[in-house]
Amino acid sequence: MMDEVLTVDHVAMEYKYARSSIKTIEDISFTVKKNQFVSIIGPSGSGKSTLLRMILGLTKPTSGRILYGDKEEMGTDFRVSVVFQNAALFPWLDVLDNVQLALEPLIKDRDKRREIAMNNIRLVGIDGFEKAYPKELSGGMKQRVAIARALATSPDVLLLDEPFSGLDVFSAQAIREELLDLWESPVENPNTILMVTHNVDEAVQMSDVIVILSHRPARVLREMPITLQRPRNTRSDEFYKTVDQVLTVMSE
Ligand SMILES: Nc1ncnc2c1ncn2[C@@H]1O[C@H](COP(=O)(O)OP(=O)(O)OP(=O)(O)O)[C@@H](O)[C@H]1O
Ligand SMILES: [Mg+2]
Repeated sequence: MMDEVLTVDHVAMEYKYARSSIKTIEDISFTVKKNQFVSIIGPSGSGKSTLLRMILGLTKPTSGRILYGDKEEMGTDFRVSVVFQNAALFPWLDVLDNVQLALEPLIKDRDKRREIAMNNIRLVGIDGFEKAYPKELSGGMKQRVAIARALATSPDVLLLDEPFSGLDVFSAQAIREELLDLWESPVENPNTILMVTHNVDEAVQMSDVIVILSHRPARVLREMPITLQRPRNTRSDEFYKTVDQVLTVMSE
């Protein structure tokens, strides 16, 4: 695989309504390289979720293109998983089946599917709840199931849409650290992560690069590399300074 895993190339998006249209995205370009953790930060309504849907191939940009490696099609050997803003679980399936379902197209053997699903359920700390249904879970637990499901397929690229915003600070911090461990581990996928967030501290803690978007219609205000040494001390002066730099660009 080439160095650039994802290329968002002059993407624009205009939603058409019956009598009008709204330009949501003016012009967004950035690349995500293999093994990078990239965050997108921008105001509400600037088209961040729309952008993730376009990367997944669920929505077509009005203009511009998205490349996977050097191809315009995602293909079959390029795997992208997503954790949506709201956990989006199937209410009629229990936790284990919600996770296993993602594996059905990929793995024929039922026992193997179950084993992989269970490993990922354990990983996000909800083992013991395999037989529970989504309505029996707290918001944070549902979010963990969604993360387990996204991880189970061992994606090349993991897309995250504000995955921690519904969690209490302790759970959020715990899952962030688990995810960073996975990302840093050379043997486990995902190796490349693209995350949408509103939380500047979170973006600075986790990312190699932060793509800062303007208000609607969105364009890229800055692609800011974050070079702080990992694991990052979220209470150091340099950390606060970096957070401040991001906030300054956002308020420009
Ligand atoms: N399916 C759709 N049809 C029409 N308009 C849409 C659709 N989805 C989103 N929009 C519009 O596009 C704009 C951007 O929406 P989007 O959900 O991508 O923003 P966002 O940056 O993810 O916001 P937030 O931070 O609040 O999640 C909004 O004005 C929204 O009304
Ligand atoms: Mg959104």
